[in-house]
Parts: sequence; structure tokens; C-alpha cells
Amino acid sequence: MLNKVDINIEKFINDLKDDRVDEFYKHLSSGKKLRAKLILKIADNKADKAVVLASIVEMIHAASLLHDDVIDDANTRRGKKSINALFGDKSAIMFGDILYSKAFFELCNFPLQIAKSISEAVAKLSIGELLDVELSKSFNDNIEKYFDMIYKKTASLIEASAYSAAFLAGVDSDKFALYGKNLGLAFQIIDDILDIVSDDKTLGKPSMNDYKEGKTTLPYIYLYKKLDKDDKDRLLSMFKQELNHDDKEWIRAKMQSSGALKECFELVHKLGSEALNSIEEYKNSDLEKIIKDMIDREY
Ligand code: FPP
Ligand code: MG
Repeated sequence: MLNKVDINIEKFINDLKDDRVDEFYKHLSSGKKLRAKLILKIADNKADKAVVLASIVEMIHAASLLHDDVIDDANTRRGKKSINALFGDKSAIMFGDILYSKAFFELCNFPLQIAKSISEAVAKLSIGELLDVELSKSFNDNIEKYFDMIYKKTASLIEASAYSAAFLAGVDSDKFALYGKNLGLAFQIIDDILDIVSDDKTLGKPSMNDYKEGKTTLPYIYLYKKLDKDDKDRLLSMFKQELNHDDKEWIRAKMQSSGALKECFELVHKLGSEALNSIEEYKNSDLEKIIKDMIDREY
């Protein structure tokens, strides 16, 4: 079924009839397609429409990453050279605009509730990116601000995907929206953990890059609260700096010994359980597996 999503996206790209767009698309690396999987599993009784909705959401997600890589000045994406690295920032921004606009054109064929839910989420995710950039200016130890940002930047589109797929399927959209929201929050926290514990090859991008970029993710917020004065100062002195091997090892060791990582994992499990509780009555083992795979993933 995921293959059908790729075929459908290619069809949308072909509709645009532009050689430059075709060329950019060829260099776009395909990701895990979490949002597509979610939509296909929830709306499996409306498979054809689900494939189109999943394609739309994946195109919006890809557009947001094209812009994000320009904002973050990232050279790699999903183990391949990013579009901005290959063709420059201007092309990456415009290609993002093209994907996003075509996705919205196709979204107009869906019921208003779905179109509103997805488009509202895109406004949220853009505000989330703005918050992320703002929070990255200085060390942030405010947990509420972190959660507000990851809800908007990551969880909102996953929440809207689950809501919309449930609407298509004719099941309780609010319950599925809550599943999607908690899945999205947990997904981002796992991402933040993987940046610290994984190596470059597994991640497909440089590891321990968040802190260097000024992102005080949840493991760092928890760690900071647990450190004594000297260690707090040491951690703060590394903020937004190029980290050498010893710095990285020190952070990794403190993340383990302080229990900061453990606390993050506990929260991920709690969010996973809350996600599953909200759709308990549907007994959907595929959606249980999505939560399990998300927690166990390595990249
Ligand atoms: C990745 O963050 C970024 C996002 C999930 C959202 C980015 C959103 C925008 C740029 C708004 C523009 C939206 C559209 C539709 C054009 P990250 O940098 O933490 O993750 P990464 O490590 O994968 O880069
Ligand atoms: Mg980024």
C-alpha cells in the first residue's frame, strides 16, 4: 500500500509537467512515511481515498522538510544530500512551495472537515518551526515551551492525519486525533533521544547535532535539572558550540548516569499508552504496532 502512495505522488508530480520539478523530485530521498502508514491503517475501509490523502500529507511533510533544511542549513537528509545542498536554498524553497501547493490543490477534493484539519495543522507546524528557531537562540530549560513547540512542529500534522483518516473511515475522529497527538509527541522525543545515542551512519545525518544547533531538547532539559552547579556550567559552556569527541562522550555519559534518558523513555512509554488507551475500543493491532515500532526505532 505504501508503494501505492509513492506511485500516486509521482502522478501528482507528473501533473505539474515541469522538467525542473521532475529533476528535484528524483533527488528527494524517501522517508519512513509514518503519516502515510497511519492514514492507510486507520482508513483501510476507504483504501483508494486513503492513498490520495496519505500522498497529500507526505507531500506537505516533504515540503516542510525542504524548508527546514534551508532554515537549519542542513547538508544531508535521510542519508542523502539535501535538495538545498544539491541545488541551493532558492530551489529548495521553491520546490517546497510547489509540493505544498499541489498538495493543497488535491486536498480541495476532500470533505471540508478534512481540508480544514490538515490546513490548520500546516499553520501550526509553521508556527512550531518559528518557535523552534526562537527557542534555539538561547539555552531553554522551560519544559512547557518545549512541549508547545514539539506539539506544533511535529505532533499537529500527525494528529490531523489521524483525525482525517478516522473521518474518512467513519470512526470517532476525536479519539484517533488524540492517538495521533500522543504518537507525534512521543515520536519527536524519540528523535531527540536518537540524536544523542545514535551514530551518524544510523541516523543518516550528523549525530549530536541538536545541541550544537541550539536545540535544548527534552533530554538536555531533564539533564540540566539533575546536574550540580559545576556540571550545569560545563553543559551551558557547550551550548551552540562545535563539540569534540570528549564533550560528546561526557554528555552521553551524564545522560545515562543522571537518569535523564531513562526519564525521557518513561515519558515516551506513557505517551504511547495514552495513545493506545484513546482507541482501545477499536482493538487495532496495526496501530499498536505503529506505537511499538516508533518506540523501538533506531533512526
Ligand atoms: C523538522 O524539524 C521540521 C519539521 C517537522 C517542520 C518544519 C516546518 C516548516 C519549515 C514550516 C513550513 C511548512 C510547509 C508546509 C512549507 P527538525 O529540524 O527538528 O528535524 P530534522 O532533524 O529532521 O531536521
Ligand atoms: Mg532540521
